[in-house]
Amino acid sequence: MSPVEQRLATSVLVIGAGGSGLRAAIQLAERGTDVLLVGKRPAADAHTTLAAGGINAALATMDPADTWQQHAADTLTESYFLADPRTVRIVAEGAAAGVADLERWGMPFAREPDGRISQRFFGAHTFRRTAFAGDYTGLEIQRTLVNRARALEVPIIDTMYVTRILTRDGTVFGAYGFDTGDGTRYLVHADAVVLAAGGHTRIWRRTSSRRDENTGDSFRLALTAGARIRDPELVQFHPSGLIEPEDAAGTLVSEAARGEGGVLRNRLGERFMQRYDPARMELSTRDRVALAAYTEIKQGRGTPRGGVWLDVSHLPRDTIMQRLPRVHRTLMELQMLDITTTPMEVAPTAHYSMGGVWVRPQDHGTGVAGLYAVGEAASGLHGANRLGGNSLIELLVYGRIVGDAAADYSADLDAQPRGAGAVAEARDEVDRVLAADGPENVRSLQRAVRDTMTEHAGVVRDETGLRTGLARLDDIEAAAADVGVHPDLAGFQDLAHAFDLRSALVAARATVEAAIERRETRGCHNRSDFPEMDEALRVNLVWSGPGRLVREPVAQTPVEIAALVREISTVGKLLE
Ligand code: FUM
Repeated sequence: MSPVEQRLATSVLVIGAGGSGLRAAIQLAERGTDVLLVGKRPAADAHTTLAAGGINAALATMDPADTWQQHAADTLTESYFLADPRTVRIVAEGAAAGVADLERWGMPFAREPDGRISQRFFGAHTFRRTAFAGDYTGLEIQRTLVNRARALEVPIIDTMYVTRILTRDGTVFGAYGFDTGDGTRYLVHADAVVLAAGGHTRIWRRTSSRRDENTGDSFRLALTAGARIRDPELVQFHPSGLIEPEDAAGTLVSEAARGEGGVLRNRLGERFMQRYDPARMELSTRDRVALAAYTEIKQGRGTPRGGVWLDVSHLPRDTIMQRLPRVHRTLMELQMLDITTTPMEVAPTAHYSMGGVWVRPQDHGTGVAGLYAVGEAASGLHGANRLGGNSLIELLVYGRIVGDAAADYSADLDAQPRGAGAVAEARDEVDRVLAADGPENVRSLQRAVRDTMTEHAGVVRDETGLRTGLARLDDIEAAAADVGVHPDLAGFQDLAHAFDLRSALVAARATVEAAIERRETRGCHNRSDFPEMDEALRVNLVWSGPGRLVREPVAQTPVEIAALVREISTVGKLLE
């Protein structure tokens, strides 16, 4: 019996129901443009809910000298000059308006007694500019955006797995997918598509993403639609992920813990950041703190389970309960450990894709007519090291911009070519995967990808390891052609996992190939065989499929921002 196929039509289809997708959908709805928001996970529980410590805007509520120009300069400096200065400027300049939108829609920011929004220190910012709601900032933002989208009656299908973006002659005309509950197929015709399906950090073993999120879907969907991937090798490892329990390995302990005064120690009780960045200590940049923790562990000064200690127990109990409630609760739930009295055992965890789909700075168009990308799916703001708190502001600023751009594109469209061939191909692909009855297990192969990336493309990399990783990916890809897919009464999750695996393999290959090409150490990308930064590699690496990688120059920094940029010292990096 042929499967049920539901046909839908809208002006703009948004793929991904996290913060960036929601913000774009809200803008579209406010403009009066027809929009449909789809995602593979419940909107109320999208990945954005895990973002913890805060959102950046130079509001100057705590430090009056702060300016958006200084925010831009800090972002550029800490990107090791790989961020696109135009993107950086747009985000820093638009940040206050992004926060004001949230305030208007009811976001419960933490406030000072006189009513000002509180702002805390996050690593490597010149001033306190991270606004927050306890350490549940992402969760509150997601709630606020979901409520706003509901008020605007944005239609949401958050059980739709998108397998293909449909194009004809380089122009988007919709997407194809299936329902993760009952397997109903969806053929959605749309003038424009906004891709907001997250990053690829779930392809490492220890990661702050949960199962089945950030599996690299944006990479595969964009690539098959004809778009390109920029700097996939630039993946942020956050210094503090939990080590245990194994099935929650990598769960984030927010940087807010260090922002509020938490300290890092090795097995010998030393505050080891003294050795790596004595001026900024625990509030150094994420790449530096993660590498320092990695080095301590590698050199045998790690904790019994292979981590370092993160201690907040010297802070007043009230501070912990009010400003770090989620860290407190998470540790109680997962380890029955009370952080008001006992240090946590943490290690670096894959946290954020700083690279992603190539987009134009002005509107996040991908170069494929009618296709836009936003949020962690996109690239351009973070370069080789992201400042904590910048991704939440990015999704607000660019969510609005992309919503406007897609609305304009749709309004200006005279006619749209559709392709029966592209639809048939998408349909056949799902049929084939669904009929697969081979001996290989999808879950085991996903695990094999994670093992490969962890072993060969982790915090520190080298050519031999990366090439071994690439060969291993060839083997896994061959095995993936022979999987068995068996949906059951519980739904079509098995089919979703098979597509997740395909995405993970694309994302892993892009990452490893670009990591080989970047023969230098810059920000998060540590090459033990090339320990210096190479000026010739102050370029973006743009990947358009296996073996296809080109270098792209980074745009000039505007003069007013350049004047505020600091030199970055790499003294203390790669001590191992
Ligand atoms: O540590 C954190 O709270 C993470 C924040 C971020 O990645 O922006």
